[in-house]
Amino acid sequence: RLTAVLKKTVVMVGMMGAGKTAVGTALAARLGVPFIDSDAALVEASQMSIAEIFLRDGEQFFRDRETEVISRLLDCAPGVLSTGGGAFLAERNRQMIHERGISVLLDADVELLWNRVKHKETRPLLRTSNPRATLEEIYAIRAPIYAKADLAVQARPEYAIADMVDKVIEA
Ligand code: S3P
Repeated sequence: RLTAVLKKTVVMVGMMGAGKTAVGTALAARLGVPFIDSDAALVEASQMSIAEIFLRDGEQFFRDRETEVISRLLDCAPGVLSTGGGAFLAERNRQMIHERGISVLLDADVELLWNRVKHKETRPLLRTSNPRATLEEIYAIRAPIYAKADLAVQARPEYAIADMVDKVIEA
């Protein structure tokens, strides 16, 4: 009967590699509601990868489009919305997510995040000479902002996606 109580969209926030898309997809399936991913919506609308958008138009352009997409998605019927890792940092995004949704932070330590993102080329922010150190820096800066989410769930290497879904629902 969980669908009956889902009055607002559940918005997954947190670092790249925390599992927002994987857990969000499974959560939506469990609840029987639509799943949407703001990065995927942007890629679809622009016909470019996230890395290409950053490269061609810059991060600020990406952030502005991201805000538009999240606003539009929050107007849809309640579902699960997975956001890009930087989305929750902008005050205007936090405000609309707070007003029109319920935010769930997927937290994970840097070790786990790094293990998940190190082989992927899709994250433009990690294209530095020392991506692991960059990830750590980003994490340290963002942690206090992510902590403003309505709910938080800790990811651990031993938790399967289904365990994470259980924890989000419990929270
Ligand atoms: C970003 C995270 C990415 C994507 C973009 C910027 C960030 O999304 O939106 O590369 O600032 O943390 P994921 O969190 O899905 O990797």
